[in-house]
Amino acid sequence: MSEVVATKQSVSFILDGKEVTGYRGETIIQVADREGVYIPRFCYHERLSVAANCRMCLVQVNDGKKTLPACHAQISQDMVVNTQSSTTRQSQQSVMEFLLINHPLDCPICDQGGQCDLQDLAMGFGKGVSRYEDTKRVVKDEDLGPLVSADMTRCIHCTRCVRFGTEISGIPDLGALGRGEDMRILSYLKTGLNSEVSGNVIDLCPVGALTSKPHRYRGRSWSFTNHAYYSAHDCLQSHVYVHTYKNGIDGQDAVMRVVPRQCDSINQIWLSDRDRFSYLGLQHRDRLTHPMIRDGKSWRVVDWETALTLVSEKIQSVIKDHGPEQIGALISPSTSLEEGFIGQKLLHTLGCRNMDYRLHQRDTDYMDSAVHTLPQEFLSFEQLDNSQCVVLVGSYIRHEQPIAGLRLRAASLKGTRVLSINPIAHAWNFHCEEEVVVAGQDFVQFLGACVVSLANFGAIELSDRWRERLIHIDSSTQSDRFAKYLMQSDGYLLLGQYAQSHPHASAIYKLCSLISSVTQMRLVMMTPGTNSTGLHAIGYGPCHRVDSVNMSTGESSYQMIDRPKQLYLLQQVEPEIDHYDPALARAALTRAQTVVAITSFTSPEMLEYADILLPAAAWTEFSGSWVNITGEINTFQAIKPLHGQSKSAWKIYRVLANLLKCEGFTYHDISELRADIPLLSSGCLDESIDGEVDLSPPLPRQLADQVVGSELTRIGELGHYQMDTLVRRCDPLQRPADKVIAKIHPDTVRRLGFDDPGNDVVVSLKQGQNVISCPLLTDKTIAKGAVYCPVICHGDSQLSGRNDAIEILFSEDDQ
Ligand code: SF4
Ligand code: FES
Repeated sequence: MSEVVATKQSVSFILDGKEVTGYRGETIIQVADREGVYIPRFCYHERLSVAANCRMCLVQVNDGKKTLPACHAQISQDMVVNTQSSTTRQSQQSVMEFLLINHPLDCPICDQGGQCDLQDLAMGFGKGVSRYEDTKRVVKDEDLGPLVSADMTRCIHCTRCVRFGTEISGIPDLGALGRGEDMRILSYLKTGLNSEVSGNVIDLCPVGALTSKPHRYRGRSWSFTNHAYYSAHDCLQSHVYVHTYKNGIDGQDAVMRVVPRQCDSINQIWLSDRDRFSYLGLQHRDRLTHPMIRDGKSWRVVDWETALTLVSEKIQSVIKDHGPEQIGALISPSTSLEEGFIGQKLLHTLGCRNMDYRLHQRDTDYMDSAVHTLPQEFLSFEQLDNSQCVVLVGSYIRHEQPIAGLRLRAASLKGTRVLSINPIAHAWNFHCEEEVVVAGQDFVQFLGACVVSLANFGAIELSDRWRERLIHIDSSTQSDRFAKYLMQSDGYLLLGQYAQSHPHASAIYKLCSLISSVTQMRLVMMTPGTNSTGLHAIGYGPCHRVDSVNMSTGESSYQMIDRPKQLYLLQQVEPEIDHYDPALARAALTRAQTVVAITSFTSPEMLEYADILLPAAAWTEFSGSWVNITGEINTFQAIKPLHGQSKSAWKIYRVLANLLKCEGFTYHDISELRADIPLLSSGCLDESIDGEVDLSPPLPRQLADQVVGSELTRIGELGHYQMDTLVRRCDPLQRPADKVIAKIHPDTVRRLGFDDPGNDVVVSLKQGQNVISCPLLTDKTIAKGAVYCPVICHGDSQLSGRNDAIEILFSEDDQ
């Protein structure tokens, strides 16, 4: 990595005849870049360590006959650097000639053409002719998987891709074998690229050796239009450029690729594979192009007026016959502020309070009681970089927010201690100082034990009510060690997917809040979807602020499914995957009188339970605003035409409101709608929300419950390439590994009275009436007393609550 200058001691020297100032420890190329003097380079990259192996950056120093690599040579007082002298030019031309000896002249068929450093530098710094007449080296290509295409004959051995793996991602998928002309860049174990951020090597490779496989041969960079946008798959909202191309078929702009847009406070120059490749889902065969209504067992394409009139009739009929409380709205956590605001306003006007975006959660009490405030702090990556300690509470940050995972790894390399409390001993790409692997009620109890340890060390004075709740919980050696870190450090408690979707999420949250309130550890929930924070901030949810004190309550996403409704309104969700209890959700939707889906995609399951399908604009096709985990409000404009007859969701709500004769919905354009949203008109989250988090203890039994006998709890995570409707339709991201395989700790199998079944057994997993069969592997990384069984995204069978109790049925032969 570019060396950070510890002592800011000034150094003056002459650069191309001009006196410039740098700092001791800086290299010539760093100062030259700052001064706007370009020095050609291949292996040097400001975010990677200095390899100095390509020699392209040679410059003349102090009129010497030999040139020095500017990326490696440090500046010194009164040195004279000449980047334009004939000696410098000759060195650079010689290096270029040397590099081109083995590089194929295949620019016309190379995807890097037009954006290739080698092509550019050969034009700017090459000789124009080569004296080499022998045969060129040919290297066998590597199969690096479905995302990155490898043409290794083009490789110039700069090792940027190798250094990215060892230094940035921490997953050394690629390495170098051999020396000199025999040197090869390859995947040592022939496993291809498997990290969640593997696509970054495409940007780093200065030649056409590593290119985007899905984008291969699909267009030239100079014919694309560049749009600044935000990615939509996690709460970071990484900054991206979306490249569109006016294709010749229908003359409409199509998204051709997505690349990172530099933003030092969020994604720096990196992008997760999910953010980079999920645009491929936009053209998926599941895209809904026209409004459709159910006609018996078949579907009929209709016009918008017919579809929306039918929706309004159905809503009126349910309100008349059953009351507005028989309507339930389930929306995606990536819903924009504008869509959430107008949808909420419509439901409130109709007298309905049942609305939620927290589909993955069962216990939402702690958030509902924090309706007047944000139940967490914002994350600052600058503070994270300098934190002494970060505790991951039920978070596999690498998969849930891959860019935050990269930033945590960078902080860890600088000295931040990372502690983890998770149901799985995850494959971290950083050193984990302390790791506790517990699931189910043990998870809550360990956090309780940490509080008891803090109390024993005198860091916290527990109230009588808290003492009563924690009476059955003892500290342990491990909780004592955690408590010591918590007391002595500042940093973050990051609550991830498992913590938030735990059946006792309120207890977890309140214990973490209590710890946060007596230590220097800030509590941040790494929320799912893009805009959970924004939707909470505008009050979207069953608990609605009536005024600064009072609130009215409806039902949460879990309650809406647990107590089935007559009419469901879905927006960009597939509850049979997204809901905490997929089986229960599917049953409720199938039983409902009417299901209206505002959606970009259909699925076989949706075509069974839905009655009216309204095509909605997908990512890049609508304008809106999101709030990210750092508290920034990101407003963006649509950059791609609507697909088929789809419409922006906020317009669908507006027309529906007019058909239902609701007043106050005369928004002519999105700017009028934005003016009605206090958060957007003030532009400041703090002015919209000013309450306090409820820190009263959770119910006593939530902390004292024990997992008894042979009861097992499920770890039902949603795969990182299944997080939303778009990414799960990006075919290259769907790997065989995403197929359902259950895992269990071998000790748990023995505790149940069975022999270790080995790795070839198929078992039945049962939750209530729901049973599935799948292979079972024994795996020591899984918490004891738990069964890892991810959410199933395909097929008819589905289990129930993600993290609820589960039974495992072995065949008698296994006993
Ligand atoms: S594949 Fe590209 S990034 Fe990797 S060493 Fe070769 S030229 Fe450099
Ligand atoms: S850029 Fe300096 S040696 Fe490669």
